[in-house]
Amino acid sequence: MLDGKKILITGGTGSLGQALTKRLLKSDVDTIRILSRNESKQVEMNSELDDKRLRFFLGDIRDKERLIKSMEDVDVVFHTAALKHVPIIEYNPFEAIKTNVVGSQNVIDAALVHNVEKVVCIGTDKAVSPLNTYGATKLLMEKLFVSANNYLNIDRYRTQFLAVRYGNVFGSSGSVIPKFLEQIKNNKKITITDENMTRFSITMEEALDFILDCTINGKASEIYVPKLKGYSISLIKDAFQKLFGDIEAETIGIRPGEKLHEVLINQEEIRYCWDLDNKLMISNANLKDEDIINTHNSKIKRSTQTDAYTSENTERLSVSEIQERIKQFEKDQIV
Ligand SMILES: NC(=O)c1ccc[n+]([C@@H]2O[C@H](COP(=O)([O-])OP(=O)(O)OC[C@H]3O[C@@H](n4cnc5c(N)ncnc54)[C@H](OP(=O)(O)O)[C@@H]3O)[C@@H](O)[C@H]2O)c1
Repeated sequence: MLDGKKILITGGTGSLGQALTKRLLKSDVDTIRILSRNESKQVEMNSELDDKRLRFFLGDIRDKERLIKSMEDVDVVFHTAALKHVPIIEYNPFEAIKTNVVGSQNVIDAALVHNVEKVVCIGTDKAVSPLNTYGATKLLMEKLFVSANNYLNIDRYRTQFLAVRYGNVFGSSGSVIPKFLEQIKNNKKITITDENMTRFSITMEEALDFILDCTINGKASEIYVPKLKGYSISLIKDAFQKLFGDIEAETIGIRPGEKLHEVLINQEEIRYCWDLDNKLMISNANLKDEDIINTHNSKIKRSTQTDAYTSENTERLSVSEIQERIKQFEKDQIV
């Protein structure tokens, strides 16, 4: 589906944006436009990748005019740009509203101006029953995307808006793996929030497979959720101790706005949850079951999940699987 297409990635210089760009450049895409604010990151990325299909657009998703210009002739938009650091957003909430909420609506409006084929936004488990402002802004982003197709005249617009939602990307910027590695390198104690804390885990490669699968096979107004294993912080500590010997750890307590366990699908959403073998899908509550089944050519069944889908009740990664992921991360250095 993506061969010959013109693609725009908002936030293309971020952890996900760069990995997605590298993956897409391996296929026959026509061009990839990167839209982000920091020029140095763009210069670095351009010299590293050095591919004539890449175009760099300086711009801010808060600026609708700029988005409209950058989406001319574009077929597919991956909307990854966001402010995402929980404590920073707690301190500056309105900045996150401007980027994650208003910026996302600008992406939708600009995509409609150019009748873009597909627009996929990247959601997070922190948006489910959110406890912090980051999660709340990402929840609103999802809501905007899921409802964007509601008011479209389908004779005039071909655009399909959909969302993917997953948990922590193993080793992404600001996450616990690069933090612990940095602390060990500097002979510092690793700082543990709470040994019982659990999180969902997805590797960058799994996230890319999932995003591309949903882009190709997903339909409008839907939220897609992968089936993921989880880990507890004590398992991460065990894996680090197996890899680096007897490292010291210090418990610093859970930070404001953090949950002990994350949720990918909450108890209310389970009612709209469908199983597509390798992934789950939350349908738009306004759609009828028969329409959903018809749109997916019957390759879909109601999920049998009855409880919320949480990082506490999902299958756990083993310590050796975590060790493998840490080793792979050190090799890839995706930050
Ligand atoms: N990392 C995870 O574990 C995880 C898990 C689930 C979902 N997600 C979601 O996945 C997406 C990507 O995450 P990531 O880890 O790749 O984040 P990241 O590394 O912080 O990248 C964010 C990107 O967005 C750009 N950006 C920020 N504000 C912008 C604005 N106003 N206008 C244009 N560009 C802007 C940044 O570049 P400039 O600063 O140069 O503009 C950067 O390129 C986010 O939407 C995040 O919520 C992440």
